[in-house]
Amino acid sequence: MNKLRLGVNIDHVATIRNARGGPHPDPVRAAFLAVQAGADGITAHLREDRRHISDADIEALVHRLNVPLNLEMAATEEMLSIALAHKPHAVCMVPEKREEITTEGGLDVAGLFDSLKPYVTRLKAVGSRVSLFIDPDEDQLRAAKELAVPVCELHTGAYCDAEGADRALQFARIERAAAIGHGLGIEMHAGHGLSFETVGDVAALPEIAELNIGHFLVGEAIFVGFESAIREMRHLMDEAR
Ligand code: PXP
Repeated sequence: MNKLRLGVNIDHVATIRNARGGPHPDPVRAAFLAVQAGADGITAHLREDRRHISDADIEALVHRLNVPLNLEMAATEEMLSIALAHKPHAVCMVPEKREEITTEGGLDVAGLFDSLKPYVTRLKAVGSRVSLFIDPDEDQLRAAKELAVPVCELHTGAYCDAEGADRALQFARIERAAAIGHGLGIEMHAGHGLSFETVGDVAALPEIAELNIGHFLVGEAIFVGFESAIREMRHLMDEAR
């Protein structure tokens, strides 16, 4: 089976840094460590309120990383102009509401079709691989296909949060969406809320090409170190494959 890529999301290294307002811990240093530990790429979400990753972080990542950078952003004019200036390897468009703690649901591609279209066109024109972060839902995938995006990332949050019988149901949605998206010719990624416990089943889906994982790894770093946490995640992904 094709190798599953791991994108390490370093947002919450910046969250810890920002708690004190100084330069430590540096998310760029964490990015280099992540690559050393087996990350195939680095993911960072520049939020409108800059609560974690800053403009300077993105600038440093663009210039210093030697692996692909996946920039997560809301579909706003401000973010678009930043992305067009930096031309990151990939841009994943996500829904963003200021008051939310994290990205709560997927992008409503079907509902926002007309407003997303120019973003997709302009990002593709500078060579960024455009991805849409969506709930595992067939209508969203069909709208994404119509927008001609090369990549969709399935939101695994509901699956990771689910308990009991609901977990199997949520997983079945991801499994089905991965197969449908792949069948439509879309490269399928997945992420949000993944941990050592939940990563295996998602990693075992043959249509999934990349996982983006952040919060759990930064949390686990407190106990075992960032590098070990990433190595273990990499190991669990490879084992499930
Ligand atoms: N993928 C996307 C599109 C996200 O918005 C996030 C959270 O920023 C992640 C993956 C990573 O989620 P987590 O930090 O829960 O692993």
